[in-house]
Amino acid sequence: MTYLFAIETSCDDTSMSILNIKNKRVISYITFNQNKIHRNHGGIIPELAVNEHIHKITEVFMSLLNKSNILIKQIKFIAATKSPGLQGSLRIGLNFSLGLGKLLDIPVIGVNHLQSHLLSNLYEDGFPHNFIGLVISGGHTSLYLRKYRHIFLCIGSTKDDAIGESFDKVGRLLGLKYPSGSTIDRLSNDGNHNRFIFPVPQLDKPYFNFSFSGLKSFSYNLINHLFRQDIVVKQKTLNDMCSSLRTSFIIITLEKAFVACKIYGLQSIVVGGGVASNRALKLFYFTLKKYYNMKICIPKIFGCTDNAAMVGKLGIQTLIS
Ligand code: KG4
Ligand code: ZN
Repeated sequence: MTYLFAIETSCDDTSMSILNIKNKRVISYITFNQNKIHRNHGGIIPELAVNEHIHKITEVFMSLLNKSNILIKQIKFIAATKSPGLQGSLRIGLNFSLGLGKLLDIPVIGVNHLQSHLLSNLYEDGFPHNFIGLVISGGHTSLYLRKYRHIFLCIGSTKDDAIGESFDKVGRLLGLKYPSGSTIDRLSNDGNHNRFIFPVPQLDKPYFNFSFSGLKSFSYNLINHLFRQDIVVKQKTLNDMCSSLRTSFIIITLEKAFVACKIYGLQSIVVGGGVASNRALKLFYFTLKKYYNMKICIPKIFGCTDNAAMVGKLGIQTLIS
């Protein structure tokens, strides 16, 4: 048996995985998450992230080998996240991979973090060959056209904040704990999304780029206005505000993916990144399927966040091409 070792350290997760190269199955994965450390600072502190990666990297690797029940010499390839991400964090994973590669005398493949998010669901039933990929995370909002196995073309990205970052910044104003995307999502479930009408950014050139700064400013002003009137403390208003915000953020991103599908003659959208676990996406899933016969692939919660299994999947796609 030959195995691929995959590692992801682009941000605040030290994640590793072992995949069987022949049948492309994920044998095991382990992720050490640093949320607890960064939470107190209201965002990710790059220096702290680097320190934690250094502290945990060997421990996570040893636990992974134990869990996988394989010998280190059975690893024949390594796939590591190369970019984009926090420079210091990326370097820890890459240096570890290069050292291990040298020790075992095996090749190291560097993979793109955003593209790997889009292959989280690869090999699951009905996963499309060609699709428009929408990466929505704390640090990125990007649109891709998947052309072939590991070949992706970036057709749009955010010009200012990322969608997850915008959720987190608005959440902070509302007094919610970082990262607040999932809390806003939960509060939205009991809210009326038609109560507040958020502006839709007009970005004609180039059309597939995103901008969230207008929506963020609108949210700031709205929250200030509500605070002045002392209304926001009322649970109902908070729920309605979150629901209106959630709907407009998700519609903006999905609409671009939808138009890209029409332009490139595709029927499938694959979503990836932490924000892909947002429940509003699932609501649109049915609408797109029913009225446009279109499919949206949304990973399970584990597959939405940073993990090395997706890095391994993109690594194998690169290997077999
Ligand atoms: O992909 P991810 O785990 O980390 C990186 O960005 O690398 O994404 C984290 C982001 C955070 O901004 C968090 O607030 C957001 O994903 N998030 C959500 C939800 N769950 C996590 N945003 C909206 N709805 C959610 N359910
Ligand atoms: Zn990510």
